[in-house]
Amino acid sequence: MPRHVAIVMDGNGRWARRRFMPRVFGHKFGMETVVRVIDDCAARGIEYLTVYAFSSENWKRPDEEVSGLMNLVLVGVSKYLTRLAKNGVRIKVMGDRSAVSEKVRQAWNEAEELTRDNRGLTLTVAFNYGGRWDIVQACKRALADGVSAADLSEESLSRYLALAHAPDPDLFIRTGGEVRVSNFLLWQLAYAEFYFTDCLWPDFDATEMDRAIAAFAGRDRRFGGVKTDPNEATA
Ligand code: IPE
Ligand code: IPE
Ligand code: MG
Repeated sequence: MPRHVAIVMDGNGRWARRRFMPRVFGHKFGMETVVRVIDDCAARGIEYLTVYAFSSENWKRPDEEVSGLMNLVLVGVSKYLTRLAKNGVRIKVMGDRSAVSEKVRQAWNEAEELTRDNRGLTLTVAFNYGGRWDIVQACKRALADGVSAADLSEESLSRYLALAHAPDPDLFIRTGGEVRVSNFLLWQLAYAEFYFTDCLWPDFDATEMDRAIAAFAGRDRRFGGVKTDPNEATA
């Protein structure tokens, strides 16, 4: 079982288009899917779930879609926060919060504050997040803290990255059929197992999750080493 699952929740727009509905309709259903997937992950003993909700490049979308997505944050927090908090979920938000509206910032702060002492699944929402932004902001904060070139290491820089509160993802899932990372966790995915599915995000369910986990279970993770086969005679 992976400890940490990271998901690029893609395909909301196409899902809506197939129903002759506006893209924001797909995002609304996508939000319901995230809430179900949080339960599915918790039920399977997954400790960390990180979801890509809004990328630093998603500002390029039409104003109507961007404001629809921002509004969904407010709707989602008011509709689901109490329940998630009661279920022990600890919520973290990562991304550049300086660029979002005061209302959205407050909603994220509230979600983090209310769940900070929870000990269940840690849900990290990547919002106005980009993997390159993450590495740059980590370097900036390390420099501001007086970390010298000599002290800078993979380990010391990791402490400033947005996912410092979690181990690296074990399993990366992307729905929606595209086979790319789209500036998600560039540093942290170094040794993740990748799983791609054509399933559009609003259709992603427990069966799809089990398929991804089964694929993960069948992978041989070597981390650059060699696997020693117990049945093979060693010279
Ligand atoms: C992913 O779905 C959700 C966000 C980027 C917010 P898309 O909106 O990218 O859906 P498609 O890829 O256009 O179908
Ligand atoms: C990635 O999906 C971002 C999120 C799921 C939030 P996009 O739909 O924005 O990615 P591209 O544009 O297809 O690479
Ligand atoms: Mg997309």
